[in-house]
Amino acid sequence: MSTEKQFDVVVIGGGPGGYVAAIRAAQLGFKTACIDEWQNTKGGPALGGTCTNVGCIPSKALLQSSEHFEHAGHAFKEHGINVSGLELDLAQMLKRKDGVVKANNDGIVYLFKKNKVTFFHGRGTFAGKAEGDGGYTINVSGPSTDSITAKNVIVATGSNARELPGAEFDEKLILSNTGALAIDGVPARLGVIGAGVIGLEMGSVWRRLGAQVTVLEGLPTFLGAVDQQIAKEAHKAFVKQGLAIHLGVKIGSITKGANDVTVEYADATGAAQTVTFDRLIVSIGRVPNTNGLGVETVGLQLDERGFIGVDGECRTNLPGVWAVGDVVRGPMLAHKAEEEGVAVAERIAGQHGHVNFDTIPWVIYTSPEIAWVGKTEEQLKAAGVAYKAGSFPFMANGRARALGDTTGMVKVIADATTDEILGVHMVGPVVSELISEAVVAMEFKAAAEDIARICHAHPTLSEATKEAALAVDKRSLNF
Ligand code: FAD
Ligand code: NAI
Repeated sequence: MSTEKQFDVVVIGGGPGGYVAAIRAAQLGFKTACIDEWQNTKGGPALGGTCTNVGCIPSKALLQSSEHFEHAGHAFKEHGINVSGLELDLAQMLKRKDGVVKANNDGIVYLFKKNKVTFFHGRGTFAGKAEGDGGYTINVSGPSTDSITAKNVIVATGSNARELPGAEFDEKLILSNTGALAIDGVPARLGVIGAGVIGLEMGSVWRRLGAQVTVLEGLPTFLGAVDQQIAKEAHKAFVKQGLAIHLGVKIGSITKGANDVTVEYADATGAAQTVTFDRLIVSIGRVPNTNGLGVETVGLQLDERGFIGVDGECRTNLPGVWAVGDVVRGPMLAHKAEEEGVAVAERIAGQHGHVNFDTIPWVIYTSPEIAWVGKTEEQLKAAGVAYKAGSFPFMANGRARALGDTTGMVKVIADATTDEILGVHMVGPVVSELISEAVVAMEFKAAAEDIARICHAHPTLSEATKEAALAVDKRSLNF
């Protein structure tokens, strides 16, 4: 094999885990390639994976556009701005979203050129051990065909939406995240199965644009992983906005008509219910993607749930083969994938790459937004940890009043003895940005008193975090 086809590091998958790993490996001086099979509508490459193409980026573009629409229709009036003749141009909204996606796709192509990462457009498949100590041979098939070798392989092949048996995605009536981001007319009746992150974000988009949205959730608790005081506040806000959320349901049959879908389910009391929707989004979690990767050829081990088996440092059972992101255990979040990608590149270089799983922030980009880091009150109670909690409502925050968005609160939880911050939980305006302060504080093992004593600009939403930290010691100044 010619030396131009021999690499130090090959990354399979160009989502946030893979493309960031490739850039970091190249920065560290490795001859690096990245293989990604995603195709845009013209058959060209579309780097960025699920996140850029059908995940984080397009969903946030539509959340932003739909929020503008809702504000223009409702919230502006209170500010003394009367809008008449408000019209929805959904085609333009979707076109703008596609433009935002393309800008991100192109940005990664530019970053690969800048960092001298060689890109192969196609599916990467393990073909076996390379001769000598050359590592592994990987075949590329699809838009481009090739065969390359690498001593170190980073697998970052991501995840796919989980299907409900008997209700396969057709992306016309029964939609995964892909179809949910591209409905070409606002459905009058939209059904959503699963009140998780996608269900709430996409349900919010289409409700704001005029759909009657019904969310059917299997568990009896709303957002069970979220601190329950925060989850209750969010639930109240979503119901007030008009989302119909039914908890504790058991889905029965799902039947497609010519233009609609009928769902039979048992409600929380066990009573049989039948409801017909114009579109149905199924958002019940995601499954790891190892399709066509050739795991059997080289003996790459999967765990019992189909994830690639890795240790705490993303090493697989094969020497020189690593795996990161949605295809391995842990939260399915773009920033988690990126941190693992960087850490693995650094470990290959003999450095001490590190990911702190205890300080990975979560954000749900609804309105109000929900964000948290660290432990919930429920988790601390279950673990028998003594803690003290302080909270501060946005209702008492001057900037929130000026914004006209006073829903929600910030809550800080600290160790009862040492005052170290154990968790910070937020529901309210722009808390996706506010949570970073809490992450930094926890990384530096700050006490609640540290945040309470730090000067925060006035008037800002971040003062709510300072006040919640003061409230841990029962000395809020503004509430
Ligand atoms: P992916 O992004 O799935 O990328 C994997 C890539 O590998 C894909 O391009 C795929 O085509 C390619 N591939 C797979 N197999 C092969 C192969 N054999 N050869 C070549 N290429 C291959 N997370 C957040 O943190 N914030 C959010 O706001 C957010 N919003 C989301 C909204 C939605 C609707 C969805 C569905 C997800 C969202 N996520 C969000 C989750 C986030 O998208 C994932 O956690 C993230 O994309 C995982 O990155 P990854 O690199 O592991 O995999
Ligand atoms: P999810 O795990 O967030 O939620 C799935 C929901 O479906 C759960 O509440 C679950 O109890 C419910 N459910 C499962 N099976 C069911 C059934 N048979 N009937 C009724 N309800 C059922 O998964 P989701 O929303 O599909 O998203 C997948 C992942 O993508 C998320 O976990 C997250 O990691 C990532 N994501 C992150 C975002 C962000 O960071 N803002 C946005 C969107 C997705």
